[in-house]
Amino acid sequence: MRASRPFIRTLYVGERLRRTGRLISYRQCEARFFGRLWSYRCLPFIYQPALTELVGSIKHLEEGRNSHYYLVMKRVPSSITPVIAVSRKSSTPLHRQIYDSFRDLIVQGNLMSGQQIPSTRTLAEELGISRFPVLNAYAQLLGEGYFEGRIGSGTVVSSSLPDQPTLPGPHGGRSTRILSGPRQPSKISAQLPGVTSEPWLQGRAAFVGSQLALDHFPFNLWSRLLALRSRKIVEASLHYGHPMGLRDLREAIVSYLRTARAVRCDAEQIMIVSGSQQALDITSRVLLDPKDRVWLEEPGYTLARHIFMMAGSRVVPVPVDQEGLDVAAGRKLCAKAKAVYVCPSHQYPLGVVMSASRRLQLLNWAQSTGAWIIEDDYDSEYRYEGAPIASLQGLDRYSRVIYIGTFSKVLFPSVRVGYVVIPTDLVDRFVTVRQAMDIFPSNLHQQVLSDFINQGHFERHIRRMRAIYHDRLNALVGSLRKDLAGTLKMLASGAGLHITVMLKEQASDVAISRRAALQNLWLWPLSICYLGSAPRQGFILGFGGIPVDEMPRAVRRLRAALQEK
Ligand SMILES: Cc1ncc(COP(=O)(O)O)c(C=O)c1O
Repeated sequence: MRASRPFIRTLYVGERLRRTGRLISYRQCEARFFGRLWSYRCLPFIYQPALTELVGSIKHLEEGRNSHYYLVMKRVPSSITPVIAVSRKSSTPLHRQIYDSFRDLIVQGNLMSGQQIPSTRTLAEELGISRFPVLNAYAQLLGEGYFEGRIGSGTVVSSSLPDQPTLPGPHGGRSTRILSGPRQPSKISAQLPGVTSEPWLQGRAAFVGSQLALDHFPFNLWSRLLALRSRKIVEASLHYGHPMGLRDLREAIVSYLRTARAVRCDAEQIMIVSGSQQALDITSRVLLDPKDRVWLEEPGYTLARHIFMMAGSRVVPVPVDQEGLDVAAGRKLCAKAKAVYVCPSHQYPLGVVMSASRRLQLLNWAQSTGAWIIEDDYDSEYRYEGAPIASLQGLDRYSRVIYIGTFSKVLFPSVRVGYVVIPTDLVDRFVTVRQAMDIFPSNLHQQVLSDFINQGHFERHIRRMRAIYHDRLNALVGSLRKDLAGTLKMLASGAGLHITVMLKEQASDVAISRRAALQNLWLWPLSICYLGSAPRQGFILGFGGIPVDEMPRAVRRLRAALQEK
């Protein structure tokens, strides 16, 4: 049975067992089995019969994938000293002050059941008082059942207390803040739609747009690289780093971009960021002032729109047709925009590739008006048909393109690593703005990723995943043609991890998506990608996370959802 708020420790059953059928490498596991603490230092290998006995003896052991066993335990947070203040000047005796503080923290829910309490010695040292009043207070709290002693864990907050706070209050009793006076958030933040109000964003199954074939990610290899880097921490990597990110990773990215994307750059121009979203944020802060006009593709990527809204920009929706962003229409709508945001390799959400002539028109417009082009190349690794498409940045003779890439699609989104290729004369501004935002990116994933690329795993991974996603795309297209040809019109489908479909009959995609979410079917409505008044109705169907053999069923469920009135 899974305890609430579990934390997981892993018992690795290594390669060696699989090969010999006898020995098990036993690592990173620290748990009490048979009454004693075993760790890999004292027990590097155990025999198969011992494992069977071990597994059988542990109640919360769940078998996971790849011969991993997960040990699920109730979380007991460590004994960080809670905020307790005592005053020698007070007429209340010290032991009473300590007792009152702990009791209040427990009753208000700030200390939870099972949470460890500092030892009397530690608390006395922290408070700069003798141990006697602390011992007295602990004895009383133990006596009254607020604390309990646990073998191996010292003193903890009693497990028989309810986890929920007992004091009523606007923050569930956890905060004593009084809500009063005007509580208006900024007008800019109030414009953004609430994340939790969109039910189709809450799921993790078919047809979520951001789902990947994570079961095919080489996690063992990734874990090994991660473990190597974690074990060999050098002191220099613990200090503040450079706002541009780690040199090693930037160089690895340069050679990939030059070869695979025809991007013209060197490592001095690469800034590592936490995904495209931060890249857009930094870029907009560097290039835009409030009220500047920015062309956005219509329909377009809503999260990019939100960044420009937060920057106080006036966004100008520019229609997208079969050739990508309609530059002539953009000129008519607003010739003097300060910037344009485009996905020329695979327009989001329609999937169109921007034609060569539109690319040249866009570059000419930018050069003649002094506008910036922000190129989002978010999933160009996955192109299944035709020749690879070079980046717009590679065509740019005037250094007007800021090129943005991400590892969210090609590795996994939680890695939160992306990059910006910055025109050389803007590097200094980007560095200054980045320094003011989050200073520099965290090291560990950058190191692991540069190892992953430099050792050739990245290229192999892309090649393997391209074949897998191509199969999944074909399966989706085949099922849609078979089951929904009369209901949905499919748009371009030779790249990426989603395809967009339009509803042939008048219906509200948002209403359908809301209903479908109740049945664990996640349809991202197309209409919300439009800013203008005539949105088209349809869905953005992610296929990355759906295995080929599950695709027909997913499409049949989609058909049922569309038939429901
Ligand atoms: C158009 C577009 N750009 C970028 C991203 C990736 O964003 P991030 O790198 O912040 O995860 C996505 C993800 O779905 C996307 O659709």
